[in-house]
Amino acid sequence: MSAKRRVFSGIQPSGTLTLGNYLGAIKRWVEGQDAKENFICVVDLHAITVPQDPDALRANTRATAALLLAAGIDPARTTLFVQSHVRAHAEASWLLSCVAPLGWLERMTQYKAKAAAQESVLTALLTYPILQAGDILLYDAHEVPVGEDQKQHIELARDIAQRFNHLFGELLVVPEPKIAAAGARVMGLDDPAKKMSKSATARGHAVRLTDSDDEIRWAFKRAVTDSGREIVFSDEPEKAGVNNLLTIYQVTTGKDPDAVVADFASARGYGDLKTWVADAVIEAITPIRTRFHELMADPAELDRQVALGADHAREIAEAKLVAIKEAMGFGVPAALR
Ligand code: TYM
Repeated sequence: MSAKRRVFSGIQPSGTLTLGNYLGAIKRWVEGQDAKENFICVVDLHAITVPQDPDALRANTRATAALLLAAGIDPARTTLFVQSHVRAHAEASWLLSCVAPLGWLERMTQYKAKAAAQESVLTALLTYPILQAGDILLYDAHEVPVGEDQKQHIELARDIAQRFNHLFGELLVVPEPKIAAAGARVMGLDDPAKKMSKSATARGHAVRLTDSDDEIRWAFKRAVTDSGREIVFSDEPEKAGVNNLLTIYQVTTGKDPDAVVADFASARGYGDLKTWVADAVIEAITPIRTRFHELMADPAELDRQVALGADHAREIAEAKLVAIKEAMGFGVPAALR
C-alpha cells in the first residue's frame, strides 16, 4: 500500500460541468494534487443509471475528461481515467451488492428524489451507491473529496467496507468524506433553494465551465436574490440568493469571508454584486475554457492521455479485486490475476 494517503473521487459525464462541480469538487482536487496520491474517475457507468443517448454519452465522457484536464488535473500527479475502462469496477459492484442490505439503499435521499421524478426507474439507480462504494474501495482510498450531496453515499461506502471487513476479515480501507467548509453546495442561480445541477436544462440555472462571457453575465444578472439591499453572508432562507453569490465569489477568489464582505462594502446594490461576482467567475473560467477547446481540437491526444490513467488504475483495481474475491471464497485462476 502507498505511503501517501490515497484520494479517490468521481464525476458523472451527464452534462457539461458546472460552477458547482468546479467549486465543490474539481478545484479542491486540483489544489490537493501534491500532498496525496490522487485518483479521479469519469464515472460513465454511473451516468447510464438514467437513460443516455450513446452518442451523447461518448461526447460527454470525452468532454468531461477534457474539462478536468483543462481545470488543472495533471496526469503526472493524478491518475485520471474513465470508469468503464477498468472492468474491476463493474465486478466489484456485483460482489458488494451481495454484502449491502437493500434497506441501506432504499433510504438514500438522492435515490428517493431521482426515483420520484421518473415514471420508470432502472434497477441500477437503486444500486448506484454500491458501484460508487466499489470505486472507492478498490483503490484503498482514505479520503473522498466531494460536495455535500455525496456525503450520504460516502457514508454508505464506509458501512459497506465495515460490513465486508466484519464478514470476511480486515481487507477494505474505511474511507472518509472530505467536504469543504464553503462551496460544498452551490445553489442554482434561478432558485437558491435548489442545488446547481449539471443535468438541469433551464437557462439561467447553472453556469457551465464552457459558457461564454455573455452567457455567464446573463445568468448572474438574472440571479434570484431578495427585496433587501444587505450584502452579507446569512443562513436566513430569504438571503439564500445573496449568500450563494457571496459564497461563489469567496471560493472562486480564495478570499476569506471578511475580505469578501469588505470587497462589496462599496457596492451600490445587488446589481454591482452580480456584476462583480460574474467578473470574478469569468476571470477564473476563461483559462479553463481556452484550454478545453485546445484539448478538444486533438481528440487522439486526449484519448491517449486518458488511456494512460486507466492502465495505472487497472493494475491497482484488479489486484484489489482478486483480494476481495479470495476473501469471499472464490478461487481466482492464474489467468485472472
Ligand atoms: P456528480 O457528477 O453529481 O458531481 C461531481 C462532484 O461535484 C459535486 N457537486 C457539487 N458541489 C457543490 N455544489 C454543487 N451544486 C454541486 N454539484 C455537484 C459533487 O458533490 C461531486 O463531488 N455519485 C457521484 C460520482 C461518483 C463518485 C464516486 C464520487 C461516482 N463514484 C466515488 C466520489 C467517489 C456524482 O454523481 O457526482
